[in-house]
Amino acid sequence: MAVLEIRKYPDTVLKQKAEPVEKIDDGLQRLIDDMVETMYAASGIGLAAPQVGVSKRLIVVDVSVKEGENIPLIVLVNPEIKETEGTVDSEEGCLSLPGFITTVKRAEKVVVEGLDRHGKKITVSAEGLLSMALQHEIDHLNGTLILDRASLIKREFFKKRLQKSLSKTG
Ligand code: NI
Repeated sequence: MAVLEIRKYPDTVLKQKAEPVEKIDDGLQRLIDDMVETMYAASGIGLAAPQVGVSKRLIVVDVSVKEGENIPLIVLVNPEIKETEGTVDSEEGCLSLPGFITTVKRAEKVVVEGLDRHGKKITVSAEGLLSMALQHEIDHLNGTLILDRASLIKREFFKKRLQKSLSKTG
């Protein structure tokens, strides 16, 4: 297993719509293990494959550190949101947007279908933090960042600050 580099905004891979996973093979198993290790190393609660530079529809989520250990690590291949219920304001950050936190609108509850790491079809019904994390990671597969869901003012403020810091470091 290996800790991979997490791509940061404005890396173009984060803006792409990711491709479905076609084959569940050894390469995919390795990628899943590396993504899980990378997520834990970064103290994140979720990670999508585009964040490690792979434009494939694959996410890992583990909210147990915040929500209790009865919620297991979830690996989802080709996840799809099938049902949503309610709306909530969710305060979120993203490993690809260091230092940026914003409130975004999310569905309160979701039902997500996909494949597990062995290719078996699974359905996850989620609420609370798990629901937010699943929606956040699935957003990544569609090239959407919380920056895109933030208010215009917050977005412009972040971009200005980023430009300043980039010009400082050269
Ligand atoms: Ni993110």
